[in-house]
Amino acid sequence: MFVCGWPITLVLFRLFGPATSFPFSTNTPAPPLSSQILPPSTFPSNHPSLPSSLTLSPPISGPKEPEERVHCPLTMSPSSLVVRFGDPVAVNCSLSETGSSLVLGWAVQQDFQQTTVDSFLVWTLDRMNSWNIEAVCFALLEVEGQCQMNLPATVYSPPDSVSISFVDHSGPMSEGRPYTLQCKVQNVAPVKNLTVTFYKGQTALGQQQSNNTNKKPVSETFTLDIRPSKEDDGVQFWCEAKLELGPEGPKPPPVVESQKLNAVVFFGPHLICPSKLKVKEGESFPCEVKGKPRPSVTWYRDGQVVALPAHSNRKHAGKYTIWTKGLGQKNFTVEVEVLSGRGTTNCYTTYIPVAVLFIQMIFRL
Ligand SMILES: *[C@@H]1O[C@H](CO)[C@@H](O)[C@H](O)[C@H]1NC(C)=O
Ligand SMILES: *[C@@H]1O[C@H](CO)[C@@H](O)[C@H](O)[C@H]1NC(C)=O
Ligand SMILES: *[C@@H]1O[C@H](CO)[C@@H](O)[C@H](O)[C@H]1NC(C)=O
Ligand SMILES: *[C@@H]1O[C@H](CO)[C@@H](O)[C@H](O)[C@H]1NC(C)=O
Repeated sequence: MFVCGWPITLVLFRLFGPATSFPFSTNTPAPPLSSQILPPSTFPSNHPSLPSSLTLSPPISGPKEPEERVHCPLTMSPSSLVVRFGDPVAVNCSLSETGSSLVLGWAVQQDFQQTTVDSFLVWTLDRMNSWNIEAVCFALLEVEGQCQMNLPATVYSPPDSVSISFVDHSGPMSEGRPYTLQCKVQNVAPVKNLTVTFYKGQTALGQQQSNNTNKKPVSETFTLDIRPSKEDDGVQFWCEAKLELGPEGPKPPPVVESQKLNAVVFFGPHLICPSKLKVKEGESFPCEVKGKPRPSVTWYRDGQVVALPAHSNRKHAGKYTIWTKGLGQKNFTVEVEVLSGRGTTNCYTTYIPVAVLFIQMIFRL
C-alpha cells in the first residue's frame, strides 16, 4: 500500500546517489561539543544504516526546540509540509555550510529509509497517500555524532460537501421562537483546522471549530441556535467551511459554501397605530395591521362591526376594538380623538387644541 513505490526509489538512489556526491569541507571549525555525542566508531560508515539508538519518534508538533536547532545543522525545505492528500511531495533535507556528515538520511514511517553521503537528500513521493505521515531527517555527523529533525506535516483534504438545514423543522418559522441551524461538513481532514461560519445574508452570525483531533477525514455537524424576528422574513441562511492550514498552507485557504436556505418567518398581527389616536377632522384613521400570513382585520365599536370612515368627523371619536386573525388572534383597542378645524399642523401637540380654540374665538369676533 503506502510504500509500494519506495523500494524502486531506494534502488535508484543506490545506483545513482553516490555519483552526485559533493566534496566535504573538512577544515571548517567544529561546532561546540554536545553532551549527546556518540562516538563515530559505533557507526560503520561503509554500511550506512539507521543507528539503533535513533528511534523514529512521531514528528514534534509545534515549534522545534531551540536545542535541536543549535546542535543539528540540518535544514529542511520546505521547513514544514502541508500537502493535499493525493498530491506529490518533495522535501530537501540538507546539511548547512558548517556541518560535515558521514551519513544523511530520511526515515519515513517505520518501514522506509534512504541515506546518502551527499550534503543533501530529497525525499519524494508521487502521491501522498497517508493521513498520518511521520518523516524524520537524520545525520551522523563527523564530530557531533547523530542528530535528527522531525518534519512537521499536515495532510489535508477539503470537504466533499457542505449543507445547511434546520434541526427537526421544515417550512415557515414563527417570530421569536427558537430554532437550530445545522451545517453538515462531509469528509474533511484535519477537522481541527476547520472553521465553520454561519451567515445571514452577508452578516456572519458565529464561528465554530471542532474538538476532534482525528487526522483522517471525518464528517461533522455544527449547530447554531437562532430566534428569528419579522425582519428575517426573506433572508438567506448559509454556512461556510474553511480549512486554515497556516503559512505553508494553500493561499487562499480552501473554502466550501453550503446552499442558501430561504427563511420564511410568520409574524404578527402587529397594529401600527398609537393606542390613543388623534385624527384631524376630514381625514381617515392612519392605522395598519401588519402580519404574515396577511391577517384579517375587523373593527368594532360598542360591540358593533363598523367600517372605517374615509373622512372622519367628531362622531367618529371613541373607543374601538380591532379583532385581527393571522399567525395568531389578537385584539387591540384604540381610543380615537377627532380634532376639528383647519390649519393645524401637528395633531400630537397638546398646544394645538388651545391654539384652535383661540383661532376660532378670533373668527367669531
Ligand atoms: C537541496 O538543498 C541544497 C542546499 O540548499 C541545495 O544545494 C540543493 O541543490 C537542493 N537540492 C534540490 C534537488 O533542490
Ligand atoms: C469541545 O470541548 C468543549 C470542552 O471540552 C465542550 O464543551 C464542547 O462541547 C466540545 N465541542 C464539540 C463540538 O464537541
Ligand atoms: C492547524 O490548526 C492549528 C490550531 O488549531 C494550528 O496551530 C496549526 O498551525 C494549523 N495547521 C497548520 C498546518 O497550519
Ligand atoms: C376579540 O374580540 C372579538 C370580538 O369582540 C371576540 O369575539 C374575540 O373573542 C376576542 N378575541 C380575543 C383573543 O380576545
